[in-house]
Order: sequence, then C-alpha cells, then structure tokens
Amino acid sequence: MAPSISFIDTDKLKTFVVDDGHGVKGLSELKIKTLPELFVQPCEKRLDMSKVVPHESIPVIDMSDPEDPEVMKLICDAAENWGFFQVVNHGVPIRVLDEVKDAAKRFFSLPADEKKKYLFKNNPTKNVRLVTSFIPEVDKVYEWKDYLSCFYVSDDEAFAFWPSVCRDQLLEYMKESEPLIKTLLKVLITRLDLSKLDETNEPFLMGSRRINLNYYPICPNPELTVGVGSHSDVSTLTILLQDETGGLYVRKLDSDNWVHVPPIKGSLTINIGDALQIMSNGRYKSIEHHVVANGLENRVSVPIFVNPRPSDVIGPLPQVIARGEKALYKHVLYSDYVKHFYRKPHNGKDTIDFAKL
Ligand code: OGA
Ligand code: NI
Repeated sequence: MAPSISFIDTDKLKTFVVDDGHGVKGLSELKIKTLPELFVQPCEKRLDMSKVVPHESIPVIDMSDPEDPEVMKLICDAAENWGFFQVVNHGVPIRVLDEVKDAAKRFFSLPADEKKKYLFKNNPTKNVRLVTSFIPEVDKVYEWKDYLSCFYVSDDEAFAFWPSVCRDQLLEYMKESEPLIKTLLKVLITRLDLSKLDETNEPFLMGSRRINLNYYPICPNPELTVGVGSHSDVSTLTILLQDETGGLYVRKLDSDNWVHVPPIKGSLTINIGDALQIMSNGRYKSIEHHVVANGLENRVSVPIFVNPRPSDVIGPLPQVIARGEKALYKHVLYSDYVKHFYRKPHNGKDTIDFAKL
C-alpha cells in the first residue's frame, strides 16, 4: 500500500497518480478527505445540476428485428434528433458484457507497479496506454478518471501487448459487437443515400476500432470535479457499456439542458461521433456528453470507438452533397482530426471546428 503522503505539492501528487501508476484509484484508496486542488474544476466545467431535465431520456430501441422499417426509422431519427440512444435485444450476449466489466475491474485492481508497465513511456507499443485524467500533459486541471486505451490492430498484436487479465474479454466483446455495429451502420447509411455497407464504404465507416476501459473511483468531493469533462467523441459510432452506477449526462440537441442516461440492465448506449456528423454533413449529431464524479461508488464503463482508418480522408459524403446540400465541412485526414482532439483538454463541441468550412 502507498505510504501516506501530503499532496499539497502538485508535482508530488502528479508523480504518485500519473508516473507511479497509482492513478486516481490509488488516490481514492488513500481515503483522502478533501479533493486536491489539481482536480478542482472551474464552475463552468462542472455539470450544472439545475440544467438537468429530470423526466426526459434518450430513446431506448429494441433491436430484436432491425429490418423492421419502424425500428430503422427509430434508429435514424434518434441519430438525427438525439445523437444518443440505448439499444436492448442487440444480440451481444449478456455474459460477454458482464465478463468485460469484470475484466475492467480486474485490470484496475492490479498493483500500481504492474499497471505502470502500460504507461505510454514504459510501453514498447503505442497502441496500448494507461492514462489518468484525459491528457495529463495538457490538462491544467485533472479529471477524476483512469483509463486504459487499446487500439486494435490484430489478434496477434493484442496477444502480444494487451494486458492478459482483460485481453480475451475485450477481444470477445469486440468480436461479438461487430454484427451490431454493422447493423447500425447499414441502417444509418440508408438515410444518407448509400445503398449498402460494402467494401467501398466499410473502411472509412468502420475501418479501425479503439476500446477503452474507464475507471471512475469514489471521489471525496464529487461536486467540485468531473469524471469526464464535456466532449463529443471523434468516432463514427461509439458503443458504450456502462455498469449500474449511472452518472453519464447528454446534452439535449440545440439546448442548454442535459439528460441522464440511466443504466438499463443488458443495454448498450450508442452515440454518433464527429466523423459521422461530418460525413453526414450535419444530419446525424455528435452530441456533447459528460460524466460526473461519484462520492459513493466506483464506476466502470467500456466504450468501443468505431472509427475511420487513420489514413482516410473524411468529409461530407458525395451521395449527401449530390442531393444539393451545401457542404458544411471540409475534407480532413482522419489522423489529423484525432491529433487535434488529443492536443487540448476536453471542451464541449469545439473539436469539430477543425473541419468546419
Ligand atoms: C468516453 C465517454 C462515457 C462514460 O470515454 O468518451 O464519454 O459513461 N465515456 O464513461
Ligand atoms: Ni465520450
């Protein structure tokens, strides 16, 4: 166990949390009574609870028959009007979801010395990294979150570099969610005048994937900080598995209000990312979201970010522009877009300005 340390000194605190592999989880486990200054977010970055609308929720869609035109309409409408929805009867076995949550807890329960091997600076691969906050080198104020991020290259690469305590479960979850991802994309592109998902569009719609394990430990002053600051994802689609804790809030389209995404047993939360907002020329919305810190419970979540390939140039799809729409976004190299996202702290929807015309 870590020695008792005074964290008045921010550099010592960063060393403990970031460089020594303890993470905010290690800090939480020291049972500190007050939140260190490093995590105290300015008021405008915290979630204003008076802006949360209590009786509204994002759509919940039953995917038992995804070819039913009614279901297809619900999916496309949700992507246009909410940018976020939950799916049930989605075909990913509940056992696989439960095992991936257990695997996430197992990884974060490893001793700091073991986890430390996955820090960027200690790791022979750039495709797996353990991080605290969002970007500790850039964030002036830290977020109350640890995460392991794994970019999928191949099963062999994963066997070589992903942590063995969670690797098999992550790979199984990725494999089992693929039919759902394809079904969602097939449905969504019908409204963009693409006739089918095939080798001409699959690469830039779902050519690469990243899976994150997010850990939000119990926080001494949750109201003063954030789990994740408000941001939109840079993906085409994100498939998010959350546990039963809750705490994810989503901005209501074109408003100053937020709605909670209540945990529903066996469900997955789907959101549109910036890449699909750009490709659909703004028809599908990549919505801001935010995770609050929690004073009573540890929370895990596991998003799969379904992305274009880094080498793809993305922009409004020709089929969309052919309908006579004026392009709202320019063409950008996807890896440049992602680099831009990782250059600055979370700040709402501002990443997409990079591609705006
Ligand atoms: C993310 C994210 C939400 C959650 O990792 O991009 O928004 O509920 N996570 O953890
Ligand atoms: Ni997100």
